[in-house]
Amino acid sequence: MSTYTETKLQKVTTARLREMKQRGEKIACLTAYDFTTARIVDEAGIDFILIGDSASNVMAGNTTTLPITLDEMIIYSRSVARAVKRALVVADLPFGSYQGNSTEALASAVRMMKEAGVEAVKMEGGCEIRESIERILSAGIPVCGHLGLTPQSINKFGTYSVRAKEEAEAEKLLADARMLDDLGVFAIVLEKIPSELAARVTREVSCPVIGIGAGSAVDGQILVVQDMLGMNTDFKPKFLRRYADLGNVMRESIGHYVADVKAVDFPNASEQY
Ligand code: KIV
Repeated sequence: MSTYTETKLQKVTTARLREMKQRGEKIACLTAYDFTTARIVDEAGIDFILIGDSASNVMAGNTTTLPITLDEMIIYSRSVARAVKRALVVADLPFGSYQGNSTEALASAVRMMKEAGVEAVKMEGGCEIRESIERILSAGIPVCGHLGLTPQSINKFGTYSVRAKEEAEAEKLLADARMLDDLGVFAIVLEKIPSELAARVTREVSCPVIGIGAGSAVDGQILVVQDMLGMNTDFKPKFLRRYADLGNVMRESIGHYVADVKAVDFPNASEQY
């Protein structure tokens, strides 16, 4: 029998996430984009760490996820992969790196696996990218789907409001989720959709469903780490719970450091050689 420590350190795999769904154990997921944060997130017991293309917003300061490149995503992802011992490490394929055709999509996924060392990729969309998903899966690369609000299509939607409220869009989402499940994706992220629809998808597909703004009846939850730690206070959607006020903690701490330096109080006698 394994000890508690061994169990805690047991590497999370795509198969383990499926087992968690089957036994009703919820899956806790967060984003991370750098080595130091990823190590803390992993040590805290997160099951699935996503290097989201939200790096475009929270790391690079862009207003959308569209500008981030595959090269940039590989740099963030490599730092995270180096830090993580337990969680499953999944990277977003960024806008433009997989929508063209399945050959390009496979080349992007292979670069992500080889150069960043992640364990799976996530892609936004349903039937429109079916061929690319099939090609990547056939190369032995696990794929996570992403339906509902898909930020890479912001220029098509025009807003970041709740998706699939109307029947036609909800039916398409259900059909896409079934298709992704049949193709063999290891999980599906559902972003900002009505909780009843998310519950229905979760019941109907065999793979784990991870929600962000999709209610509590899904198999797991994901948030952007800077948002849930209170480092990015201008972003306050209804689905976001703040677990800390790190932005203020950092501002206050740095303010004290500035004051100490100005007052020649830092470094003191014990802090110098
Ligand atoms: O890019 C991202 O961080 C994501 C999550 C919000 C699911 O796709």
